[in-house]
Amino acid sequence: MTTTVDLRGRSYLSELDFAAEEIHHLLDLTEELKKARRAGTEQPRLTGKHLALIFEKTSTRTRCAFETAAADQGAATTYLGPGDTHLGTKESVADTARVLGRMFDGIEYRGSDQSVVTDLAAHAGIPVYNGLTDTAHPTQSLCDVFTMREHSPKPLADIAYCYLGDARNNVGNSLLSMGALLGMDVRIAGPAALWPAPQLVAACRTVAERSGARITLTEDVDTAVRGADFLHTDVWVSMGEPADTWRERVTLLLPYRVTRKTLAATGNPNVRFMHCLPSLHDDRTRLGAHLRDTYGLTGLEVTDDVFSSPASLVFDQAENRLHTIKAVLVATLED
Ligand code: CP
Ligand code: NVA
Repeated sequence: MTTTVDLRGRSYLSELDFAAEEIHHLLDLTEELKKARRAGTEQPRLTGKHLALIFEKTSTRTRCAFETAAADQGAATTYLGPGDTHLGTKESVADTARVLGRMFDGIEYRGSDQSVVTDLAAHAGIPVYNGLTDTAHPTQSLCDVFTMREHSPKPLADIAYCYLGDARNNVGNSLLSMGALLGMDVRIAGPAALWPAPQLVAACRTVAERSGARITLTEDVDTAVRGADFLHTDVWVSMGEPADTWRERVTLLLPYRVTRKTLAATGNPNVRFMHCLPSLHDDRTRLGAHLRDTYGLTGLEVTDDVFSSPASLVFDQAENRLHTIKAVLVATLED
């Protein structure tokens, strides 16, 4: 695609900081980079660049995607895990940003407060990437929309998707924001107590006036999923939330669990299931076994028969973290 979009030097902190055409540019670049990697023709475009990867919470996909994407493109990474730096204990975010800005070309940050990524970006003088905060997970929503584009014959704006569950978590917020920006049919199904914050919904509705997005928030699962092309969910208790949150969430969210019945309620035989992962879809983890013993549920937000079914795109989606994060790095860091 020929485009005048230039994202060099930009941070990626939340979806609504971007214009739709900038996201489309990242999606097109992702497609190009994914094809090149598969064909063995990928050219390194970030040779000599250095990335700091700060993780104040654990990660499998996001860390590995940043590391492999950087390596494919010739860039070096320094992993700074939970508790590895002075950040927030005896060095301010601003001072840490200034120091890292002298040594690195880009910073990825995963933690709780969105204000940390915005402060890092304000003071580092180099691009900062939000690798998940309590508010947003924008590298995930970029991957999710790329994965939907790959798996649907429809133009992006015609795709309908529904996010079920804890809709005011990072993934719920980001899927709402991304769909609003790109003019998609976005449905949120969950108890009103767990809907995204009214300010975010209002901002998304304003964006939707321009983009043509259709935004539905409802407590009614059948209304939400009818005609959907994709169903998304996420864990019911996110990283950083107290363990005793489970009791309340299981009660609130059980009606929004994704089961075969939920898929059937779409009326769409080609509906696909998506999840950012990790997922509690069975009892093969310590937490999954504990929740089974406590609540008598094997699999929480999604049943294993859906997670493991041909309708499930979850591992294609996980792979796409690599390709989409690579596109963000190339677009923002290439000379
Ligand atoms: N989806 C996602 O962000 O996974 P990780 O927590 O493993 O990075
Ligand atoms: N909502 C989840 C997403 C994990 C990728 C969490 O924050 O734990």
